[in-house]
Amino acid sequence: MILKTILIFSFLVSFFSTAHSIEKPFVIEEIHNETSLIFKFYKERSYISRLEMYKDRETPRTDFPNYFDCTLIIGEYRYCVLHSDLPFSRLWGSIYSKVCVRDVSSPRVDCISYKIIDVSYVAPVNVKFTSLPPTSGGDVVINGSFLRFVGGPNKLDHSIPPFNPFYVKGDFSDPSFNCNNITVTFPPGSGSFWVFFIDGVSGEYLISYAHPKISGFIVDLSKNVIIIDGDNFFTNKSLVQVYFDDIQQQNISITISHTQIQVINFNRIDPGPMSVLITVNGVQTQNNYTHCFPSIITSISSVSNDLGGIVTIKGSKLSSTSNSSIIPSITIGNKQCKFIKSTTTELECKLDPNISSGKKLSVDVNFNGCNSTSSGSSPVTFTYNIPALSSGSFSNGIVTLIGENLGNNKESFIQLYTNEINIKIEKFNISSDQKSLTFKLPHLKCKSFNINFTRNNISINTISISASLSNNVINKPSVSNGTLFIELYYIDCPISSSSKPTITVGNSLTNQCSIPLLKSSTSDYYETTCLIPFGTGINRQFALKYNSELVNNIFSYAPPIINDIINKDNKTLSCGSIITVSGNNLLTNDEEFKVKVLANNQDTTIIKQDENILLVKYDINESPLNVSVFIGNDLIKSNVILTFLQPIITVIPNIKNNKDGISIIIGGISLSNIINSSLTLSLNDNLNTIIPLKCNLQCSLFPNDTFYYNNTVLSSNEIHITNYTDSLLCHSNSIINETSGVLNIQFAQTSFHYDVKIDEIESSSSSFSQSSSPSSSPSSSPPSSTSLSSSPSSSSSSSISGGSKSLSGTVASITIACVAVVGALVAII
Ligand SMILES: *[C@@H]1O[C@H](CO)[C@@H](O)[C@H](O)[C@H]1NC(C)=O
Ligand SMILES: *[C@@H]1O[C@H](CO)[C@@H](O)[C@H](O)[C@H]1NC(C)=O
Ligand SMILES: *[C@@H]1O[C@H](CO)[C@@H](O)[C@H](O)[C@H]1NC(C)=O
Ligand SMILES: *[C@@H]1O[C@H](CO)[C@@H](O)[C@H](O)[C@H]1NC(C)=O
Ligand SMILES: *[C@@H]1O[C@H](CO)[C@@H](O)[C@H](O)[C@H]1NC(C)=O
Ligand SMILES: *[C@@H]1O[C@H](CO)[C@@H](O)[C@H](O)[C@H]1NC(C)=O
Ligand SMILES: *[C@@H]1O[C@H](CO)[C@@H](O)[C@H](O)[C@H]1NC(C)=O
Ligand SMILES: *[C@@H]1O[C@H](CO)[C@@H](O)[C@H](O)[C@H]1NC(C)=O
Ligand SMILES: *[C@@H]1O[C@H](CO)[C@@H](O)[C@H](O)[C@H]1NC(C)=O
Ligand SMILES: *[C@@H]1O[C@H](CO)[C@@H](O)[C@H](O)[C@H]1NC(C)=O
Ligand SMILES: *[C@@H]1O[C@H](CO)[C@@H](O)[C@H](O)[C@H]1NC(C)=O
Ligand SMILES: *[C@@H]1O[C@H](CO)[C@@H](O)[C@H](O)[C@H]1NC(C)=O
Repeated sequence: MILKTILIFSFLVSFFSTAHSIEKPFVIEEIHNETSLIFKFYKERSYISRLEMYKDRETPRTDFPNYFDCTLIIGEYRYCVLHSDLPFSRLWGSIYSKVCVRDVSSPRVDCISYKIIDVSYVAPVNVKFTSLPPTSGGDVVINGSFLRFVGGPNKLDHSIPPFNPFYVKGDFSDPSFNCNNITVTFPPGSGSFWVFFIDGVSGEYLISYAHPKISGFIVDLSKNVIIIDGDNFFTNKSLVQVYFDDIQQQNISITISHTQIQVINFNRIDPGPMSVLITVNGVQTQNNYTHCFPSIITSISSVSNDLGGIVTIKGSKLSSTSNSSIIPSITIGNKQCKFIKSTTTELECKLDPNISSGKKLSVDVNFNGCNSTSSGSSPVTFTYNIPALSSGSFSNGIVTLIGENLGNNKESFIQLYTNEINIKIEKFNISSDQKSLTFKLPHLKCKSFNINFTRNNISINTISISASLSNNVINKPSVSNGTLFIELYYIDCPISSSSKPTITVGNSLTNQCSIPLLKSSTSDYYETTCLIPFGTGINRQFALKYNSELVNNIFSYAPPIINDIINKDNKTLSCGSIITVSGNNLLTNDEEFKVKVLANNQDTTIIKQDENILLVKYDINESPLNVSVFIGNDLIKSNVILTFLQPIITVIPNIKNNKDGISIIIGGISLSNIINSSLTLSLNDNLNTIIPLKCNLQCSLFPNDTFYYNNTVLSSNEIHITNYTDSLLCHSNSIINETSGVLNIQFAQTSFHYDVKIDEIESSSSSFSQSSSPSSSPSSSPPSSTSLSSSPSSSSSSSISGGSKSLSGTVASITIACVAVVGALVAII
């Protein structure tokens, strides 16, 4: 505006102050474009007939011949159209260029008096700066028309103090020089300014130095510095403003002239995009530059593809502290992971189950369009089904492992290992969420071991487990030998050679055990031997202490073993019915192991018991006996048939005789089931008196056991038997005078006839006399056939050695009252 005013003012000054022969042409309108220049005049007034282009103040150009065709008159107006054989691109001159003026009424032409700029202002047309000058200076190509119409051809005026003109390159005098396309050299500078295509006067264009441009943006978080590489930053930092997200940065410096700015003390913790704006002397960056602060991923957890689950991403810049509503989008492979929550260092998202698993999938946490990066050289990737163990414990023989993605039995296996152990565990239970696993720990000699978990060939971190001391009693000590062999598992190994376990049984005795030893180098346990009290029974509590560990356990004494029922020749006594069971550990008295003998399905009475022999007595006189033996409730032996031993009479003393009658005590074995007993007296030839005897039977409750199972005397034949267990006390009230007779005793199947002496009548006696001797002549004839004629004639002299003993001393306390004649028991046989 100022310039235009100056122009008009100078025009008016020249109009009024100059007196020429030809009046100054008055241009009503100037019409021009790149190919045409037309002036409009009043048809009555002077007009311009030609351009006189001057190179400078003195030198006119002759190389641009031209003229105006001013023949066109329309109404009151004359139109003058410039003609030249040369293109307008050769139309140039200095501000001293003039016009030739033609008078309307005369043929006069004045080519000296008037400068072009005094009569018209022909502005440049279609001016185009093909670039803006960089702040470091440089050439800029400008094209357009009338660029140098009246500008000093090689200089371009401008508004930047101290106003030294820019230099326009090239030789304008060269006929090939194109004035519509000039190259101007700009010095270093900044900001906006005017250029004047008409020397210092007009043809002004407002341009600027080139826009600042960002080509690189380096964030150095460790130094809180951002380095911006680019161009057109100039050199003067006071002219430069840097805005991050519209916030002006206070601490900047230009570290490389024109091309590098540093922003110092910059601290940003949030992820996401940040807009960057730079203004250099009022000229600002043209394109919106954003820098992405990426989330930085350092690690990512895994989930099972068939379950899906929560993925944990660790790193930094994982949440926006300034705007917590910004929710990142997380992509794993090509799946979205649903955001759950995050802190700046940890983010959780949920991945849905996926049909297929996958390895090394890409991971991106994107805040407002900014992708994440991984720290370190290689990107963090995601792989499904990476198992992890976080803890492990041992209790009651079971190992429990806690972790993630433990898979299933088909995919996974466990290895237990130490220096000495490497065991593969294939049987274990995995919870449905694949987060815990249990298995029964096999016996190991060492307490501590590592667990190595592998799923689908992916082996992961190991966990160390310490099992607590455990033991196992190998043997069942017998009643008489209290030696316990104990296997020890999970002990500190290698063991300390001086340390011995101690054992406490019940709450009584504490014994030291032997130093644990490995049975062999491949053995998976140590063994110790401990002495314990003798005893019987099962499930005895004991406590074993080794080093600092105490473990309770139980042991059992050996259970009884039945070998056999060893009644000689399957015989038992009819009086007493002793059944002899042989075996081992027969003293066991716990219910479970109690040895029970049944005869004809009835209980028997134990009369003697030691380690190896059990004697029981069956009180009812029955034959045969069907014997069965139980240990606890288990039937061990059955259907052993015992029959009664034939009665054996071993001691026949003299018959005692007094005023109350006669009596005799007969010793023998298996004497029950007596049917008949009598004394036959021979009064004279062929005339016998039979005196019936009433008898009481006494059976020994405690017959000598060895008698039954290992009595060599009895084993060969019964003739040599001299001992007795039973006794028959017989008497009659009859008064007799005879001194001898025949004693008849009939059992169920056997009859005995003995010649006996009868003592003379005296007061009383209860002792055996040694005078008579029995002659055993058992007969199997039925009682009915008993006759005196078959009476044994063998009045042997063999004496009964035990005869002098008192029967009542050896015969037991129970007396089976048995009336001989009645023979009620015969029926059973
Ligand atoms: C320039 O102006 C002349 C006369 O007005 C006209 O004939 C011509 O078409 C114009 N050329 C351009 C490129 O506008
Ligand atoms: C100016 O330059 C542009 C390209 O830079 C070109 O397209 C145009 O034709 C040029 N104009 C003239 C008048 O030379
Ligand atoms: C303008 O001048 C520049 C520099 O001399 C040249 O590279 C370019 O080709 C020219 N353009 C035209 C349209 O003549
Ligand atoms: C640059 O960003 C500003 C503010 O966000 C916006 O108004 C303008 O349109 C953007 N310019 C470009 C070229 O995108
Ligand atoms: C950002 O991540 C998305 C998805 O992974 C990808 O398509 C895009 O090319 C990434 N952009 C950049 C700049 O890395
Ligand atoms: C786990 O066992 C596998 C298979 O024996 C082995 O390759 C891997 O090295 C083991 N891992 C460790 C930590 O011992
Ligand atoms: C006890 O039994 C064990 C094993 O059968 C044996 O080695 C030991 O000598 C026995 N001890 C005694 C005192 O019989
Ligand atoms: C004793 O009985 C058993 C079967 O109960 C039989 O095998 C055995 O031969 C018998 N012994 C005698 C000497 O009869
Ligand atoms: C059995 O007899 C033998 C020899 O007479 C004797 O030593 C033993 O003590 C007797 N046994 C019983 C249980 O009475
Ligand atoms: C049985 O007697 C014989 C001979 O006296 C003896 O050698 C054997 O040891 C005895 N058996 C039992 C079980 O007592
Ligand atoms: C059995 O007879 C033998 C030899 O005759 C004798 O030594 C033993 O003491 C007798 N036993 C009993 C219990 O009378
Ligand atoms: C027994 O003998 C005495 C005298 O010798 C006699 O008086 C008595 O009658 C006899 N009695 C009988 C039953 O014979």
